[in-house]
Amino acid sequence: MRTQVGIIGAGPAGLMLSHLLHLQGIESIIIECRSREDIEGTIRAGLLEQGTVDLMKATGVADRMMREGHFHEGIELRYNGKGHRINLYELTGGKKVTVYAQHEVIKDLIAARLNAGGEMIFNVGDVSLHDLDTSAPKIRFRKDKDGELQEITCDYIAGCDGFHGPSRPSIPSSIRKEYQKIYPFGWLGILTEAPPSAPELIYAYHERGFALLSTRSPEIQRLYIQVDPNDHISNWSDDRIWEELHARLATRDGWKLIDGPIIQKNIVAMRSFVCDPMQYGRLFLAGDAAHIVPPTGAKGLNLAMADVQVLARALDAFYTSGDAEPLMRYSETCLRRVWKAERFSWYMTSMLHRHHDYTPFEHQIQLAELDYVTSSRAGSTSLAENYVGLPMEWKEKETVATLR
Ligand code: FAD
Ligand code: DHB
Repeated sequence: MRTQVGIIGAGPAGLMLSHLLHLQGIESIIIECRSREDIEGTIRAGLLEQGTVDLMKATGVADRMMREGHFHEGIELRYNGKGHRINLYELTGGKKVTVYAQHEVIKDLIAARLNAGGEMIFNVGDVSLHDLDTSAPKIRFRKDKDGELQEITCDYIAGCDGFHGPSRPSIPSSIRKEYQKIYPFGWLGILTEAPPSAPELIYAYHERGFALLSTRSPEIQRLYIQVDPNDHISNWSDDRIWEELHARLATRDGWKLIDGPIIQKNIVAMRSFVCDPMQYGRLFLAGDAAHIVPPTGAKGLNLAMADVQVLARALDAFYTSGDAEPLMRYSETCLRRVWKAERFSWYMTSMLHRHHDYTPFEHQIQLAELDYVTSSRAGSTSLAENYVGLPMEWKEKETVATLR
């Protein structure tokens, strides 16, 4: 097989990249190790930045999101039993965030690729990358996990295979610098059949640990609590989860959390991670393959979407005018924005979680930070502009609407 861009991974990064390349007249093939049903059913992120929503609209994959998504103009930070609203819309000159689940974005992108005759091979096994420092890099894999070995020869390879995929380790370790921070927290996430308890998301700091109230639809809510990252979900009965959520989200003004049957629950560990550079030879990493953020602040999926916009534009410059400069600068362009999102996610995580190794002094500093960002216009403006998503560097001159 031969294609212009071989894409490993059908997550938000790989699918959006393939979609953007198609709109630019560049061919790609996606290979994915899981089944279509599996990736369309995995519950993960839920919050889209304004830039991600604008990208989906500009590229014709936003119809269902515009009908079924929930558009929020603010968030609440809750501590000491009291809520404080951050007016995102007003503080950022009219930007919002959208609650629309990641697996719905995946379904919409897969449908768009299939409609356009895009080639996606699911359920592959034994994926490996070869000849990355030549002009004909190759991806080898087995169809249906253990079928015959196949090879795709490409002009370029996009490693969109998440944190555990084979792309990043294919960059020689002598070239790759990795930055990492592991947090002593995990998030226990649930989906519950209940109506919304509040019109906007609530991020709560509490002595018993962080809690987050989010939503999915008028009938289904998404909530998270801070837990020990090594804890096991079997230790968490539904009653215990609700007891923690009620305690951590309680206010002094009688606000009521509405509970219901829990239909899904799991625990995820949290880390910050950056790989520099995000490219080697003809391989370009995008999304979680190159960087991970802790989920507080909801940046992961959005960063993946930002990377592939930079990559699609750089590939377009190469194929239309032979200009390889944007490709050479891919990693540098992405990392400037990635590090700011890393900073913000680390900051939100540090401010909102209960650190068991903190002294009373440090706990007071956390409360002072919360007081500052909720009472100072400068403090809340900084939080708001990061939360809705920082602009792409190249968007100062051009907007995504110029994508062909
Ligand atoms: P992935 O979604 O991980 O996709 C990678 C794909 O590559 C997968 O489909 C995988 O199966 C495939 N793959 C792996 N190995 C191979 C291989 N060998 N061969 C072929 N394919 C392979 N982000 C937000 O922006 N907002 C949020 O609200 C948010 N909330 C989150 C909540 C939770 C609980 C979690 C866990 C994450 C959250 N995130 C959030 C992060 C977000 O889900 C990820 O950052 C996002 O999925 C990254 O997309 P990606 O395409 O880079 O990687
Ligand atoms: C959701 C996840 C997040 O990490 C976040 O900060 C906000 C919302 C969600 O899944 O709804």
